[in-house]
Amino acid sequence: MAQSWTPQSWADKPIRQVPTYPDQAALGRVLTQLKSHPPLVFAGEARSLMASLGQVAEGKAFLLQGGDCAESFAEFHPDNIRDTFRVLLQMAVVLTFAAGVPVVKVGRIAGQFAKPRSDDNETINGVTLPSYRGDNINGGEFTPEARIPDPQRLLQANAQSAATLNLLRAFAQGGYADLHNVHRWMLGFIAGSPAGEQYKELAQRISETLEFMDAIGINSTSVPQLRGTDFYTSHEALHLDYETAMTRVDSTTGDWYDTSAHMLWIGDRTRQPDGAHIEYMRGIKNPIGLKCGPSLDPEELVRLIDTLNPQNIPGRLTLIARFGADKVADKLPPLIRAVKREGKKVVWSSDPMHGNTIKLQSGYKTRPVDRVLEEVRTFFAVHRAEGTHAGGVHFEMTGQDVTECLGGAQGLKEVDLQARYQTACDPRLNASQALELAFLLAQGIRDERIKDANLAASA
Ligand code: TRP
Ligand code: MN
Repeated sequence: MAQSWTPQSWADKPIRQVPTYPDQAALGRVLTQLKSHPPLVFAGEARSLMASLGQVAEGKAFLLQGGDCAESFAEFHPDNIRDTFRVLLQMAVVLTFAAGVPVVKVGRIAGQFAKPRSDDNETINGVTLPSYRGDNINGGEFTPEARIPDPQRLLQANAQSAATLNLLRAFAQGGYADLHNVHRWMLGFIAGSPAGEQYKELAQRISETLEFMDAIGINSTSVPQLRGTDFYTSHEALHLDYETAMTRVDSTTGDWYDTSAHMLWIGDRTRQPDGAHIEYMRGIKNPIGLKCGPSLDPEELVRLIDTLNPQNIPGRLTLIARFGADKVADKLPPLIRAVKREGKKVVWSSDPMHGNTIKLQSGYKTRPVDRVLEEVRTFFAVHRAEGTHAGGVHFEMTGQDVTECLGGAQGLKEVDLQARYQTACDPRLNASQALELAFLLAQGIRDERIKDANLAASA
């Protein structure tokens, strides 16, 4: 695999999940225009994220990666960005304070538009149309016109990503994320929920800690870490023409970076070892993720790791396990053992969403929160048994008060789903279900640390 790489070398490889643009010349003009757009992120930021993920790979930090399944043009609004960001802050602060580990914060945001589909077509009442592939490609409405891939959508998605990232940067560094605001990140509608109550108690303890520190001269002016946080962006690198147009040489190092996001991942449907997506990803120097589903066998995984991270750099590669609550206990250990046997340095993260999607008779696609939490629990238990670090989670959530996933402490039932089922794609955890997940994670991380401490004491 020592073949030469260019940002376009993927074009000679078999590719899946590509839209067919009727007007290729129009696509070409859009891509040319995108090549002259400013990068969304700077290579140095991607390197900082890589270093932080290296800490996760070493067992010294935890990766929190979450956001929308798919961003949409319709839901583009500053309030939505703020509400997603504040829930991520809440989750991060729960993990940092309750579990006592540094948290690497990565949003599925500012570029998460393109969606892989199981079928190229969708049939409703005998009418068959091309599937919806995400707002950057075609429209979700079930009409022949909407489903035609339109390259102008790539420009709109790029502009929306830039505006979203701009606001996120302002929130992360401009004062909103100051730890002294820990009470203000609470969304009104979750205040009465069990996770909301638990959060209020924790926020109270943090406030007291901050008051104490203030009294001894430690405050946001003297210690800038209190005032801001490093927040990174990520999305699935599915639309390779778009990613290629955003791929630039970093003048500091001479290396190629995909400047559309800090971190990119490869989906479970596009990780063929000889396919176009793997070819593209092996050449960019960003930290990358690889989704690992039930059909991935250990030998193939080792081969993929050799291709994607030949220098075995810790933090370069995050393996995102997405098996389903019923399969993770069987499927994960053989992969962990193969990775360990080969001495590969990776971050292990759990995506407890995508293996736990069910379709109800009513037609709703949903996810039982019990299953989601169960997969996370098993993920932690497997890593404890194997002596490896459960390094992170990857999940789909929104700051809006939606009713898309069943159960949770609010006890959402089938009949409740219709109230506010708003997703453009997969069902997302709402703010209170996401906080519940954070408290469960904190428990899992604490248990791992207790085990490590006991091992150290008995050694
Ligand atoms: N800068 C630290 C960090 O990112 C502390 C911090 C500031 C923080 N604001 C935060 C932590 C918001 C979590 C959430 O970890
Ligand atoms: Mn999804």
